[in-house]
Amino acid sequence: MTDKGLRQVVAAETRISDIDGIRGRLWYVGYEIEELAEKSTFEEVAYLLHHLELPTRDQLDELNEFLVSEREPSPFLVSLMPTLAQQTSPMSMLRTSVSAASAYDPDGWDDSPEANERKAYRLIAKTPTLLAMYHRMRTAQEVVPPNPKLSHAANFLAMLLGEEPSPEDARTLDTTLILYADHTMNASTFTARIIASTLADMFSAITGAIAALKGPLHGGANEEAMKMLEEVGSPERAEAYVADRLARKQKIMGFGHAVYKTMDPRARILKRLSREVGERHGDLRWYEISEAIERAVAEQKGLHPNVDFYAASVYHMLGIPTDLMTPIFAMARMAGWTAHVREQYADNRVIRPDSEYIGPRNQRYVPIDER
Ligand SMILES: CC(C)(COP(=O)(O)OP(=O)(O)OC[C@H]1O[C@@H](n2cnc3c(N)ncnc32)[C@H](O)[C@@H]1OP(=O)(O)O)[C@@H](O)C(=O)NCCC(=O)NCCS
Repeated sequence: MTDKGLRQVVAAETRISDIDGIRGRLWYVGYEIEELAEKSTFEEVAYLLHHLELPTRDQLDELNEFLVSEREPSPFLVSLMPTLAQQTSPMSMLRTSVSAASAYDPDGWDDSPEANERKAYRLIAKTPTLLAMYHRMRTAQEVVPPNPKLSHAANFLAMLLGEEPSPEDARTLDTTLILYADHTMNASTFTARIIASTLADMFSAITGAIAALKGPLHGGANEEAMKMLEEVGSPERAEAYVADRLARKQKIMGFGHAVYKTMDPRARILKRLSREVGERHGDLRWYEISEAIERAVAEQKGLHPNVDFYAASVYHMLGIPTDLMTPIFAMARMAGWTAHVREQYADNRVIRPDSEYIGPRNQRYVPIDER
C-alpha cells in the first residue's frame, strides 16, 4: 500500500535528533531543546550535531576560530553576487551560491570524512555572509565585512543591518538558530540524505536541501506567516481573518505539523522570545496579533503553531526583512543538514524507495500519424 508522504517510513537510523510528536518534545543528541535553547550557543550546537557530544572549551575555541576564518566567500562568489542580488530571490541566490561554492573549496573533490567536516563548517560559516552581502547589494548599501570579534549570530546581524546588535538581540537570534538547527527527517534533510546516498558531494546535497526548503509547505512558512500578520494588522481582526481563510479552505501558515500533534516545543520558546523582543523594542503589536491568531486557530481548527509562526514576529522585530526569513532558517539548518549528510556517508546505502504503478498496462504502441 502506498504511504503518501512516507509518514510511516523510517528512512534512516540517526543519532542526531529525535522528536516525540505526541508529547511535543525535541532532542538534539539526547539533549532537550529547551535546555539547549537556554544554555547553549549556535556554535556549540553545530559542534554537538557533528560530533554527537558537547565540546570542551578548547574544542569550541578551535571550532569558533575555524568558523571565523571561513566567513569570507571566495572571490568567485563575490563576483557573482551583484548579478544574483539583482536577478534572484534570496533562496535562489543561496541555492546558486552553495552550488557555486564547490568550485573554490580548498578541499576540492576530496570526500574523506575530514574534508567533509571542513566543507560542512565552511558552509555554516559562509551562509550568513552570503545573505548579508546579497541584502546590502540589492538595497544599494555598502557591504559590511565580517567582524571576527562577533559570534555567528551577532556578526550576521552586524553585516546585515550595518550596526552591531545589542547583546540581547544577538542572543535572541542565536536562540532561534539553535531551534532551527535540526529536525530529524524533514523534507529538506531527507533530500540532502537522498543526494548524499548516491555519493554525490556535500555541496550537491546541500544545494538540493535548500531547494526543498524553499517551498511554502516547508521553510517558506515563516515568510508567509509574517505576511499574514501584516494582513491581519491588529489583534481584533484575527478571529474574522482566520474564519474567512478556513471557510475558503486555505491553510493558515505557521500552523499544523506533520509530526507534532500538540504545540511544537520550538514554538513555545519562540512565543516567549517574540514577547521579550517586542517588550525590549517597545512594540508588542506583532506579538499581540500573533497571539490572537494562535487563539483563533486553536478555537476554530484545533491546530497549534509550529516553529515558523512566532519566528516571523521575532525576526521582524530584529529588523530582518521578510524575504530573508526562510534563508535564515537555511543558515541555521546548515548545521543539521551537513551533519546528516556526513552521517549518511558514514553508513550508506543508496536510498531508492519503490512506487505503486497505477497507470494503464498492456498498451500497444500506435505510430504517431495514426494517433
Ligand atoms: C505542515 C503541514 C504541511 C503538515 O501537513 P500534514 O501532516 O499533511 O497535515 P494534514 O494536512 O494531514 O492536516 C490535517 C488537517 O488539518 C488541516 N490543516 C493542517 N495544517 C493546516 C493549516 N496550517 N491551516 C489550516 N488547516 C490545516 C488539514 O487541511 C487537514 O484538515 P482536514 O482533515 O479537514 O482535511 C501542514 O500543517 C501545513 O501545510 N501547514 C502550513 C504550512 C506550514 O506552516 N509549514 C511549516 C511546517 S514546520
